[in-house]
Amino acid sequence: MQKICFWLLVSIATVIIMTVLISWERHQVSGHLYPYEYDIFDQLARRRNGGDTTSDIDRSSRCPLHSKPHFLDSPTPNKWQVVQERTYYVYSAHADPRMGNVTLIRLFGIMPLDRSDGAYQGETFWCQVWINAHGKPHIAEAFLYNQGHAKEKYLSAQWSCVVDISPDKFSALGVSLVVNNSCNEPTNLLSIHTIRKTDGYSKRFTICVGGALKREYSNYHQLVEWVEVNRIFGADHVVAYDYNSSAIIDPYVNYYKAAGILEVIPWSLPNIGDVNSFSLIWNLGQITLINDCIYRNMYTSKYIASLDLDEFIVPYGRSGSWLEMMNNAGCGNKPIAIVRNTFFGISTKWPEDPIYEHDKLVHDVLRLVTLTKTKQDKYVNSFPKRSKFIARSDVVDTAGIHNIKQVWAVKNRDLFVCEVELPYGRLHHYRDPRWKDIEPIKNAFMHKFAEEIINRTSKVHRDVIWLQDLQ
Ligand SMILES: *[C@@H]1O[C@H](CO)[C@@H](O)[C@H](O)[C@H]1NC(C)=O
Ligand SMILES: *[C@@H]1O[C@H](CO)[C@@H](O)[C@H](O)[C@H]1NC(C)=O
Ligand SMILES: *[C@@H]1O[C@H](CO)[C@@H](O)[C@H](O)[C@H]1NC(C)=O
Ligand SMILES: *[C@@H]1O[C@H](CO)[C@@H](O)[C@H](O)[C@H]1NC(C)=O
Repeated sequence: MQKICFWLLVSIATVIIMTVLISWERHQVSGHLYPYEYDIFDQLARRRNGGDTTSDIDRSSRCPLHSKPHFLDSPTPNKWQVVQERTYYVYSAHADPRMGNVTLIRLFGIMPLDRSDGAYQGETFWCQVWINAHGKPHIAEAFLYNQGHAKEKYLSAQWSCVVDISPDKFSALGVSLVVNNSCNEPTNLLSIHTIRKTDGYSKRFTICVGGALKREYSNYHQLVEWVEVNRIFGADHVVAYDYNSSAIIDPYVNYYKAAGILEVIPWSLPNIGDVNSFSLIWNLGQITLINDCIYRNMYTSKYIASLDLDEFIVPYGRSGSWLEMMNNAGCGNKPIAIVRNTFFGISTKWPEDPIYEHDKLVHDVLRLVTLTKTKQDKYVNSFPKRSKFIARSDVVDTAGIHNIKQVWAVKNRDLFVCEVELPYGRLHHYRDPRWKDIEPIKNAFMHKFAEEIINRTSKVHRDVIWLQDLQ
């Protein structure tokens, strides 16, 4: 009897622990494979071993399609399009040259979670690559990979098609994605951004704003501080995706565009419901956005990072830039560096830094969060929880929010990832930590850069106001 009671108690305890663990796990982003094992090389080998030697040309010649449907406009870049209503949507296509003798077309979009639970195992995807407006398309099977949180209705989706054309000869009008029947009339047509392999990068660090600028986003103080602090650390190119931000930020956006620093890309998500709800789609389709941003800048920018507007990768110790941080941290010979997350409280319950609390310029005019908020939560996240990465663009196959999910052509991603230890750098995340047992400690490390931050942000605000006065 005692034995039974004991085991009963153990079982109950196990169930409770598992429930807690599972509910915790649900908050984490996790890679999710469906319906194929993702590795593209394995896929190709398997298809050949399975005896499928059908070439794109053979497939194509069987289709009654003769030219791209006239109802599709000429391909438009940066426009969400429907593959199938309420199921799949695509946003962009990139021609990836890294396989050498064939071209990989990478398509980025979203898909509903209920398509990933195995019920649609039989679903197949096809790329129709329109070489020109007349004539049959090349047809290639599309391999799907998706990522997201288990609680959202829509996940991030990425399709890859191998097209038997060598990258240096590849040129096409656009690509359509169709489901199940490779000869289906397409409902979408994406222009293809062709990635060219070079070793002469024109940019060193590109920073993508990790989440699209939200509807009515108007916080130009934040935008200016974020851009300028990132520039101090090494950013020479900033990319933001715009989901209907407020016109209030336009003077700043135009200023940065004119200076060749900022690129703004439209991100008008399809009409799938309340896209501001995280249970519909994570942070306005953040994972799709990050991957699009990396492929868009692959080989033109040496390194890419994706940061939210309340996050900064800060070089610690002797380093004044990300490059020095990577070298000093012993990450110089690895293509991906990740940093640990630290929260800085921003609400009124966290006292402001005494030096700047009553400083009119810093506190009221420039509203510099990095200088006024110096209360850090003592608890630092471990790798890679809430980490952020700086990655060499040409080694990325698929990125997640906190780390690179898959490195190009390498099975063991970890060989490529270098963990930056706390003395060398960390992620400053200006957001109140949610849990209760927070222990605030003072961390005024950002004051090291105070003069430069104040100088630079003052100049931007002065220039923009001056420009506005002229108009
Ligand atoms: C491409 O090159 C690899 C080796 O470099 C070879 O195994 C493969 O068969 C080639 N593919 C095509 C389509 O020529
Ligand atoms: C594709 O085919 C699978 C398997 O036959 C089927 O379950 C699914 O509904 C089809 N999907 C579409 C969009 O036609
Ligand atoms: C974008 O913002 C404008 C003005 O705030 C609003 O009228 C419009 O409905 C918004 N569109 C979307 C797609 O949110
Ligand atoms: C900030 O501006 C002041 C006044 O123009 C100048 O003397 C100083 O060198 C600048 N400091 C930095 C770090 O840029």
